[in-house]
Amino acid sequence: MIRMVYDGDISMKVGFIGFGEVASTISKGLMDNGVEVYTSLEGRSIKTCNLVEEMSINICKDYKEVAKISDILISAVVPAKAVEVAREIGEDYKGVYVDINNVSPQTVKKALSYIKNRKTVDASIMGSIKLNGIKVQIITSGNSANQFAKLNSYGMNIKIIGSEIGQASTLKMLRSSYTKGVSAILFESLYTAYKMKLDNEFLKCLEVTECPGFRESAISRITSSGFHADRRAQEMEEVLEMMSEYKNPFMSKATTEFFKTLSKKVDKLDKRSEDYKNLFAKIQD
Ligand SMILES: NC(=O)c1ccc[n+]([C@@H]2O[C@H](COP(=O)([O-])OP(=O)(O)OC[C@H]3O[C@@H](n4cnc5c(N)ncnc54)[C@H](OP(=O)(O)O)[C@@H]3O)[C@@H](O)[C@H]2O)c1
Repeated sequence: MIRMVYDGDISMKVGFIGFGEVASTISKGLMDNGVEVYTSLEGRSIKTCNLVEEMSINICKDYKEVAKISDILISAVVPAKAVEVAREIGEDYKGVYVDINNVSPQTVKKALSYIKNRKTVDASIMGSIKLNGIKVQIITSGNSANQFAKLNSYGMNIKIIGSEIGQASTLKMLRSSYTKGVSAILFESLYTAYKMKLDNEFLKCLEVTECPGFRESAISRITSSGFHADRRAQEMEEVLEMMSEYKNPFMSKATTEFFKTLSKKVDKLDKRSEDYKNLFAKIQD
């Protein structure tokens, strides 16, 4: 059911390009705090259309209309589309454009170069949006970061770390290199243990040497790696782009290959499995 867009007396209007896990989680928090949220279903999959309609977001006929209405426009697509969507909107957009995608500093600079009014923000989510919701920390840099940070009054947790585009993304890429590398090696090790029917014992061993609660967090990393494998492969390509400028990044190359291979095996699961055994059973050769 489409809710009609209207021009009322509203202090803050936020638009989203792309409406997946990030946009839906932030939107829910903003709407709970009285912000009007807008998006479009132009070219979107059934999965995204269902998510938007479930949440009663204001739906515009296309992204140009979302841009026209929004004081703040957040690009939350997939890394490979960050530049393309900025290029399509950038010429005429009047408000503050925020790129929240997991992309390299090179990519975010390229994407934001298309926003002709120069009111741009490089934003990076630090932590799990699934666990923290709208309170997840978002680090930002760029000349309009203070404008974006006004959304802290509506429940967000935005921290300004610098004035230059690329600073927030650099920190995010470094963090991604570490966290995705850990997820990949954990996945590979537990999968081998599972094939040898030693997975439960292996998790018990890790629980002894790692921190309390490690088992739950390990399983969550693994199931989420399966569900988001394609996006993670794209994110690792961005990490590689950044790290390759400084050094030959052997570990990041291996992590990228791991997620590319996994994404072909899982081939877009429509639902996140909560049990790693179900996931492993699906990816067996
Ligand atoms: N989830 C996280 O925890 C997390 C954390 C940090 C950063 N990020 C970054 O935030 C961004 C969004 O992540 P997510 O988890 O929300 O991803 P997601 O659940 O995969 O959703 C991506 C959304 O973007 C849409 N999209 C793809 N191409 C598009 C295009 N050309 N124009 C408009 N919309 C398009 C998709 O629509 P379709 O369904 O039609 O493909 C979908 O609605 C990604 O760049 C990711 O790297 C995510």
